[in-house]
Amino acid sequence: LRAHIHLDPQAVVAPVRRRTFGSFVEHLGRCVYTGLYEPDHPTANPDGFRMDVVDLVRELGTTTVRYPGGNFVSGFRWEDSVGPRDQRPVRRDLAWHALESNQVGLDEFARWLKLTDSELMLAVNVATRGILPALDLLEYANHPSGTALSDLRVANGTPEPHDVRMWCLGNEMDGPWQTGFMTADDYGKIAARTAAAMKMADKNLELVVCGSSGSGMPTFGDWERTVLEHAYDHVDYVSCHAYYQVHDGDLGSFLASANDMDYFIDTVLATADHVGHKKRSAKKINISFDEWNVWYLEEHMASQEAGDEWRHAPRQLEDVYTVADAVVVGNLLMTLLKRSDRVTSASLAQLVNVIAPIMTEPGGPAWRQTTFYPFSITSRLASGEVIRPATETPAYATARHGEASVVDAVATVDEDRCSVFLVNRDLRKSAQVTIDVRGLGSSHIAEAVTLADADVYAKNTLAEQHRVTPYANTSAALADGVVTIELPPVSWTAIALR
Ligand code: AHR
Repeated sequence: LRAHIHLDPQAVVAPVRRRTFGSFVEHLGRCVYTGLYEPDHPTANPDGFRMDVVDLVRELGTTTVRYPGGNFVSGFRWEDSVGPRDQRPVRRDLAWHALESNQVGLDEFARWLKLTDSELMLAVNVATRGILPALDLLEYANHPSGTALSDLRVANGTPEPHDVRMWCLGNEMDGPWQTGFMTADDYGKIAARTAAAMKMADKNLELVVCGSSGSGMPTFGDWERTVLEHAYDHVDYVSCHAYYQVHDGDLGSFLASANDMDYFIDTVLATADHVGHKKRSAKKINISFDEWNVWYLEEHMASQEAGDEWRHAPRQLEDVYTVADAVVVGNLLMTLLKRSDRVTSASLAQLVNVIAPIMTEPGGPAWRQTTFYPFSITSRLASGEVIRPATETPAYATARHGEASVVDAVATVDEDRCSVFLVNRDLRKSAQVTIDVRGLGSSHIAEAVTLADADVYAKNTLAEQHRVTPYANTSAALADGVVTIELPPVSWTAIALR
């Protein structure tokens, strides 16, 4: 199996957007409680945050973190989660059938984010609240001082405003599972009014209106059109959410999940641009791909307990990821990079324990899932501008996603480094790949790492935390401006050239 890639430094897509490496923390399961926050843990800081997790998040290289939901936000009263902790109420979270103690709220989470050098992206509850609570939260979070709610924040121990730039207008409002879900028409109207009011407070906010919860939603396309017809002038982004998994053992289709992400992006942009054209607007709406990942949702639905018990921080959505899952995550991130011209923000859902690259055990260790590696390495190596490579590769037919290329690639280039990210989707054969980098003036290979395993279902677990790690790909060589490298079956690879 052979593939050839030509890298032309003139084939620039867009700058690498740091926000592509965003993530997502929801009050769900053990993401916050016993994930980020565990006051009794040996590594806890005075705020109760686990520093072993902070170290891993820093290594992961996240940039923005969306918070506090997700479906959770549609039942959330933000006021419950600020002020003296002993006075915060315990509430029922209907979305995940759990108890929320509110021991972590906006002020604590913003402090945690500073430890990880990440930017806060905040969601407001449009579903079951309304315009005034959203404006109140904005005042509490961003107004410097001298008003009732900014002074309350100061009194609560946060003198400086959080200065949150990106705000989500609710979450997955097209989904019947959403508390207070709406028709596109109803949501478009309330989103437009909420956005307009928020921009009266600060015209420089970046507002994200809810798009579809997946390209398979029955309302996909019409939803975006209707919502944007109402809200186009007041918002900056439309969201996309997509989760992928192996269906019926069909690994070939699963490995081509990026085809669906591409189709999703194309369709949303075509729809948004169509609405923009109808409005004769010079403005472009970009995509915030603010939930994406592998998620074994079918298994989750099948295992949902019917019981009535309300528990705090139950183990929920704790998917344990395989090598194949990591290859798909790496490939989806490559797709987001390739679309950096219009996908200017994204969030891997989620960050800790809940469909997450980082796992923890209460009182015990924190470790990296397989999916941790392609994300952290790409975040570290992607810089400068995204280059769209010309790729000659065999293709294969998939049951779910049409024809897929066997080898997929993207590259980034800055003054002193060129990084190439690749996958081989073939289930059995290695790919012998040549990469023509003559236009780039690179002199040597600084790094070449591959994630692959003879067992594509190998995982990292509490008992075997380092079962799967990336390894140096010693087949990589650079001679006469051409890189040669062997990519094992079902593998993800990064090469850094200097
Ligand atoms: O990330 C898990 C859930 O997936 C989120 O709460 C929701 O927005 C989506 O359906």
